[in-house]
Amino acid sequence: MDFSELIRSRYSVRAYKQDPVEDDKLNRVLEAARLAPTAANRQPFKIIVINTRGREKELNRVYSGEWFAQAPIVICVCVIPQIGWTRSFDAKNHCDVDAAIVMDHLILAAANEGLGTCWIGAFDPAAAREVLHLPDELEPVVFTPLGYSADQPRVKKRKELAELVQYQ
Ligand SMILES: Cc1cc2nc3c(=O)[nH]c(=O)nc-3n(C[C@H](O)[C@H](O)[C@H](O)COP(=O)(O)O)c2cc1C
Repeated sequence: MDFSELIRSRYSVRAYKQDPVEDDKLNRVLEAARLAPTAANRQPFKIIVINTRGREKELNRVYSGEWFAQAPIVICVCVIPQIGWTRSFDAKNHCDVDAAIVMDHLILAAANEGLGTCWIGAFDPAAAREVLHLPDELEPVVFTPLGYSADQPRVKKRKELAELVQYQ
């Protein structure tokens, strides 16, 4: 898909079909995430791919939206803060920035494959740790379902550029 068209057409999908995601599509989506830039190229992340069938109940402990585990796949991007790049001036760890770029590559690649996603930040981190059996060094940052949309795109509501951009 043309890049501008891809950016315009992607939307948060909050209803999914149960149709499986083809392995080749999943692999291209994961490959796009792998190629995401990270601070100092530290690549301090892990991508957890969860097959939802039979795990719907426990996944809904992580995020209660009934559509969350409707898709055949749920993906979690986790970071390993100990290996993330830290800015020397103020010690700001850039792991979360890295995770956001990884997930953005992933969701745009998914849209390019005709697959739906939805950023999920409002999950319960303690439940995520339990359900995904995460070791202490891994921190879950963002989830998304991955599957075919049973939803409709909405009109994008965005602030005007003049409100968002300041030229100096
Ligand atoms: C960091 C982040 C966290 C988000 N968390 C949630 C969430 O927990 N639940 C949800 O339904 N949508 C969530 N969203 C989706 C936003 O609500 C959505 O992207 C925004 O309203 C714009 O709509 P669009 O994605 O359809 O263009 C999140 C988006 C971002 C970027």
